[in-house]
Amino acid sequence: MTYCLLSIKLLEWTVFVLICDGSVRRSQTLGLVFFMAVSNASSEDELSPQNKEQKNSKGFSDFCIKNIKQADFGRKEIEIAQQEMPALMILRKRTAGEKPLAGANVVGCTHITAQTAVLIETLSALGAQCRWSACNIFSTQNAVAAALAEGGISVFAWKGESEDDFWWCIDQCVAADRWQPNLILDDGGDMTHWIYKKHPALFKKLKGIVEESVTGVYRLYQLSKKGKLCIPTMNVNDSVTKQKFDNLYCCKESIVDGLKRTTDVMIGGKQVVVCGYGEVGKGSCASLKALGAIVYVTEVDPICALQACMDGFRVITLTEIIRQVDMVITCTGNKNIVGREHFDKMKSGCIVCNMGHSNTEIDLTSLQTTELKWQRVRPHVDHIIWPDGKRVILLAEGRLLNLSCSTVPSFVLSITATTQALALIELYNAPDGRYNQDIYLLPKKMDEYVASLHLPTFDAHLTELTDDQAKYLGISKYGPFKPNYYRYGKAFPHI
Ligand SMILES: NC(=O)c1ccc[n+]([C@@H]2O[C@H](COP(=O)([O-])OP(=O)(O)OC[C@H]3O[C@@H](n4cnc5c(N)ncnc54)[C@H](O)[C@@H]3O)[C@@H](O)[C@H]2O)c1
Repeated sequence: MTYCLLSIKLLEWTVFVLICDGSVRRSQTLGLVFFMAVSNASSEDELSPQNKEQKNSKGFSDFCIKNIKQADFGRKEIEIAQQEMPALMILRKRTAGEKPLAGANVVGCTHITAQTAVLIETLSALGAQCRWSACNIFSTQNAVAAALAEGGISVFAWKGESEDDFWWCIDQCVAADRWQPNLILDDGGDMTHWIYKKHPALFKKLKGIVEESVTGVYRLYQLSKKGKLCIPTMNVNDSVTKQKFDNLYCCKESIVDGLKRTTDVMIGGKQVVVCGYGEVGKGSCASLKALGAIVYVTEVDPICALQACMDGFRVITLTEIIRQVDMVITCTGNKNIVGREHFDKMKSGCIVCNMGHSNTEIDLTSLQTTELKWQRVRPHVDHIIWPDGKRVILLAEGRLLNLSCSTVPSFVLSITATTQALALIELYNAPDGRYNQDIYLLPKKMDEYVASLHLPTFDAHLTELTDDQAKYLGISKYGPFKPNYYRYGKAFPHI
């Protein structure tokens, strides 16, 4: 009998396929082969990355990830993302000789995805040394983390970390031998919080923090109010090029993907309540409405509530609408939006998920009671079963849906990532005295620069102000074109 054994790398599994010419033995051998494949995958998977010794092909081992063998696959993911992230690639070329981040030690805590990898590798190309952990226990792309480690980046993250793993990974980034961060790139404020709590002495060497999320910026303002903010901070979240693009378009393009991948749900005709009508809520509502959902909005802010009304959404309280909706989606950045009192009133089959940064919006502890059964039906999909058989479908354990369960558009993230890179360059190179112990927005001119780097993708042709027109408006013909307080209008007046 002749046979050959093919080894096929399929994501995290090595699957052996045995091709036999003897049909009699086929079922036996395939059974054995299947067993080998499963036990190989599961024994590797079961081992916590913390207990694995791994080295990249050059012997480098200062990282902790799921599986370094996935690096080739992750590299392809990064290359695909690069094609949709033109500005970072241009930045690499334009600053090739200058290395504006030479000597910068950047400690990062963000989602670890192909798009972030393009940012991290751009920072390295600009001269920085980076150590990175994940800001979310579910959003890490393991193969991408492997590709970063293969490229020599100290990355500490894997998909499905425990809460303890999460803080351990953050600590590995900060408490490194012979390496001290002088810049933080944070998404949600956990890295900043950890350094304040566990390694406050590091602040003496830090030149600044760049914070990307609503939640993290809120935490920075809390620190500032208490007089505890001791270094300059750049609030990237409120940069126009972050908020008006990432929060809005990223969610608009990914929420439906997250819902469909997890539940295969039909959106048209479904009644959906979206809690919070900020940028994330606006993007989510627009997308759901475009597919024919009947969308309700809850809001605390009368201005956002009025915007929702004028966009054609019914503004209502969660208590009023909860019995009739098929989906509840939180987008507030706040806590305890959906509690047990709401869960008890939901109809069977109601889908509950969160698009906000933290897992605080849905009160899961109220569901940890003995009469309720939890059943994991798919990755990231739990059925919570009431004694009468009612089932509520919880996605991603209440963590942000799109980054846990779907892909997000690289192009939108390119805009945010370029803003982050420029904010780091600005803080690192600013002369003494330009920034104090305060929270700043990226200078307007840089926001405009980020946007301009993305225009060639669309073959967009900008009109140039004439000297006369610039004089009439009282601005330079090369920008900035708007004052800092300009709000850039609403994105979806027509939906
Ligand atoms: N999923 C993603 O890809 C993604 C992208 C960007 C931001 N975010 C996160 O999403 C969250 C929201 O971001 P945003 O930019 O929309 O913020 P935002 O401040 O613009 O909007 C939040 C809205 O929620 C409202 N709100 C607060 N408490 C409420 C309550 N109890 N009930 C109803 N409404 C309430 C606020 O009035 C506000 O209008 C943040 O946590 C942010 O970090 C997620």
